[in-house]
This record gives sequence, C-alpha cells and structure tokens, in this order.
Amino acid sequence: MPQDNVITIDGPAASGKSTIAQKVADKLGGFYISTGNMYRAITLHAMNSNIDLSSDIFPDRIDKILEKLDLSYSKNADGKLSLMMNGKTADSAIRSPEVAKHVSKIASMENVRAWLIGRQRELASLGTIVMEGRDIGTVIFPDAKYKFFLTASPEVRARRRLAQSGETPEGATVASVAGEIAARDEMDIKRTIAPLKKADDAIFIDSSDMNVEEVVGLIVAHIKGS
Ligand code: DC
Repeated sequence: MPQDNVITIDGPAASGKSTIAQKVADKLGGFYISTGNMYRAITLHAMNSNIDLSSDIFPDRIDKILEKLDLSYSKNADGKLSLMMNGKTADSAIRSPEVAKHVSKIASMENVRAWLIGRQRELASLGTIVMEGRDIGTVIFPDAKYKFFLTASPEVRARRRLAQSGETPEGATVASVAGEIAARDEMDIKRTIAPLKKADDAIFIDSSDMNVEEVVGLIVAHIKGS
C-alpha cells in the first residue's frame, strides 16, 4: 500500500528543495520537514562537543554525543514545525558555512543515519508531511505515493545559494559557491550508505528555467491530479 500522506522531495544541495517543499506543504495543509537540518543539528552538536570534524571522526565518539542529544520537531502556534535541540529551537547556527563544510562527513556515518531513520519515519504520524532530503524517496519512505527529484544546473544553484544570506562565507562568489556545492554533492552521491539518488518512481524536475511558483504548481497539480 503506498503511503499517500507522504510527499518526498530529494535532490542536490541548493536545488530549491526547502523553498519548494515549504510552499507545497502550505498548499496541501501539511507539515514541511527538512531532514538536512537534522544532519546539520548533529554536526553543530558535534562541534559544540569539541569534536574535531576536520580529521577522522571516530564513530564511538559520535555515539557518545548522540546519547546526549534530544532532537525532535515540535508544533508552533502557527501550525508549523520547529526543530528542537535539547529543548531549544535550532537557530540559524545550523545553517552557518562552518556547519555546511562538515555536514556531509557527518551524514556519511552509518551510526548517524541509523540514529535518524526511526526519528524521520515516525514523523509520518503527524498527517500529511512534505519531507525533503537526499534519501527520503529511496530509504526513509520507499513506499511514499508522491516522490519528486528536484535539481538545477550548478550555476543556477550557486546563484540561489549566494542569495540566501548567512549561508555562504564573506566574499563568496558564484564560482566559489559552485565549487563548495559540487564537493558536497560528490560526497553525498558517492557515499555507500543512502547516497543521493533519484528513486526509480520519482518525478524528475529540472528547475533551472522555472520559477518557484511554476515548480510548486507542477508538484501540487501532480498530487491533486493523481
Ligand atoms: O539539504 P541540506 O543542504 O540542508 O543538507 C545538508 C547535508 O545533509 C547534505 O550535504 C547532505 C546531508 N543530507 C543527507 O545526507 N540526507 C538527507 N536526507 C538530508 C541531508
């Protein structure tokens, strides 16, 4: 039985997934969930626990700090979800360039993914959810009824990321951001566990020449028309 309350949106870095997923969720009256933010929160927690992420990371050190992390989503008064880290709202620190630099390494760890899988799956009990990430249609919800894979050309993605304030270092250029995005994509595509990949039954959307409303319209029309 396909899970008809779950909409998955996967794709590479800065492909517009979060903007699109949020708007699709609003149109459908569902909850928007960014799984990238969960990996970023674990990365920040590791940095705050004095783990040096620039050298080899020992899985048992990560296991130890995960024991001290309570990561969950709570419902706000406005009906949206907030990611909570040990009882506090995860703020803009999880979107910082330092976190972005190390997050793919953390996301490639088997114990990190194993720790998150149940926490991500149980969010389907909230009702209609629009969940975005890299492995949502392939691993987390392989039986989701609606799956999309969103991408755009590297240059378009770099320009979009550059326009998001606070997410790129001072003095970043289209070329430097494109390089950072390409490095992260490569790690996400080449890792052995849950790599970035289009699910066979996902609808492929290249949004290079489309605006946000066009992409949202396409996805919502597909869901309503099926
Ligand atoms: O979507 P994002 O840029 O916030 O994701 C941050 C990182 O987390 C990205 O480099 C890959 C990783 N990630 C993942 O491995 N699996 C997911 N489902 C979501 C994100």
